[in-house]
Amino acid sequence: MIDLRDTWWIGPVEIPTRLVLAPMAGVSVQAFRRQGRRFGAGLVCSEMVSCAGIEHRNERTLGYLRVASDEHPLAIQLFGSEPATMAEAARMVEAAGADLVDLNFGCPVRKVTKTGAGATLLDDPDRAARIVSSIADAVEIPVTVKLRRGLRDGSRDCLVVGPRLVEAGAASLTLHPRSAQQMYTGTADHALTAELVSLVDVPVVASGDIVSRAKAQTVLATTGASGVMVGRAAQGNPWVLEEIVDGDAREPSREEVVAELVLFIRETVRELGERRASGFLKKFYGWYLGRGRFPRPFKQELVVLDSTEEVERRLVAAAPGSLALIERLEAEVPSGEDVTLELPISIYGGG
Ligand SMILES: Cc1cc2nc3c(=O)[nH]c(=O)nc-3n(C[C@H](O)[C@H](O)[C@H](O)COP(=O)(O)O)c2cc1C
Repeated sequence: MIDLRDTWWIGPVEIPTRLVLAPMAGVSVQAFRRQGRRFGAGLVCSEMVSCAGIEHRNERTLGYLRVASDEHPLAIQLFGSEPATMAEAARMVEAAGADLVDLNFGCPVRKVTKTGAGATLLDDPDRAARIVSSIADAVEIPVTVKLRRGLRDGSRDCLVVGPRLVEAGAASLTLHPRSAQQMYTGTADHALTAELVSLVDVPVVASGDIVSRAKAQTVLATTGASGVMVGRAAQGNPWVLEEIVDGDAREPSREEVVAELVLFIRETVRELGERRASGFLKKFYGWYLGRGRFPRPFKQELVVLDSTEEVERRLVAAAPGSLALIERLEAEVPSGEDVTLELPISIYGGG
């Protein structure tokens, strides 16, 4: 049996467990990543951040570069297609305090691929390699890449592109072995992950359909991957991370679910502000309260409420015992601006 509590390394960066929390656009805010670390993820990652947005100093984009002091080790993920712009953005990522800069060579969404970024790069190994080498030259922190198997169904392009990226300086690869065409249908073919592991001498992380400890163990054992990445299974369910890492399979009580959700709401409001947070959080209500934990109409009541304070009141009313847990969590988990909103002033160009 593989011990998920084993440490491993990406270059000089020590990763304390073999579980990696997946980057997910519209999900992987600081609150999500910090919670992931608390529940056993050894490495967390920001959602993909636009290099063009960084180049144009777009305020919302720069907000994605905020690193909390208790989420290390952390990767910030970039997407783009121009080596020079990406190298400049990588310097900002390093200055923001990330331990790793991760590159997105897997996003299948048209808005991204039509700009030559994301999964498109799997069709252009020369450009992909140039991007990696220009970033590796620009920063001291390790450069890692997350890729899909290829653009079209059945593609094995990752086995050609992956080793080229390592030659160009990538310190680790994460493979989600679905094609871009597949989006999220079908299954992740981790036989391909095993092939990639055999071709490169850097750690490989396996992403796709890791939903339980049994699956994590099987994928680690059959592929030789250094870590497994968990995405959708962790949405509204940090307890699955504990289960995967420690074998601690238990359904959280209603009080625990409410307490974690309330903390998540408070932290997200601090991070995004009430207006953005109240829309952003709606999908999380379904994720947390579903899985048979609360009756369906309760979730529907919450999503129509105007303020997160009102949501919090209803949640606590539904599980009054959660109050003591919330207090305990608030006391245990560092909070406040210095912990959660660390951002070098230089990023805003001095002021
Ligand atoms: C809502 C959502 C957003 C995602 N955003 C990103 C992203 O920003 N960058 C990235 O590399 N992968 C992204 N992914 C892919 C995941 O990181 C992961 O590779 C994929 O979901 C397969 O893993 P899973 O079966 O554990 O969910 C996203 C996936 C989902 C479901």
